[in-house]
Amino acid sequence: MKKGKITVLFICLGNICRSPAANAVLQKMVDDAGLTDRFLIDSAAVGPWHIGDLPDKRMRQAGAQRGWDISHIARQFDASSDFDRFDYIVVMDEENYKNITRQAHHEKERNQVIRMADYFEHHPTYSTVPDPYYGGMADFELALDLIEDGCQGLMKQLFTGK
Ligand code: 4NP
Repeated sequence: MKKGKITVLFICLGNICRSPAANAVLQKMVDDAGLTDRFLIDSAAVGPWHIGDLPDKRMRQAGAQRGWDISHIARQFDASSDFDRFDYIVVMDEENYKNITRQAHHEKERNQVIRMADYFEHHPTYSTVPDPYYGGMADFELALDLIEDGCQGLMKQLFTGK
């Protein structure tokens, strides 16, 4: 149920690397802070290719080494329900931003779409979370560094307004 909760949906292209990682990282931060009941957190894909899949093994392994349980089952963004269910729709890159805002029905929904990079505090030179899918483990580690930074900033902003 959404009522009274801070609702956050993370978006990436496939929902098997970046957005399920962000989903797991923010969920654990919220749980560790004793705020589980105050948040509803989920993630979804722009595209349909990996619906029903567990996250990419490389992301699961890289995440597990840092204490994150990245185990979301992939699903596709649904404009007919997700704009209603989630106040904050957090995209990883500009392609995601264009795709999701294009599906908004009006200005209010367009304004619900925000960029993860806007919450980075320690990576000022990055304006996206780059897609690691065709990269190596260093790209997955970088994605996690950026996601951890963004989730920390996001949580601060959403919960404390700072
Ligand atoms: P993600 O990474 O958007 O971070 O989940 C990708 C996963 C799959 C594909 C592309 C990016 N793909 O082309 O299947």
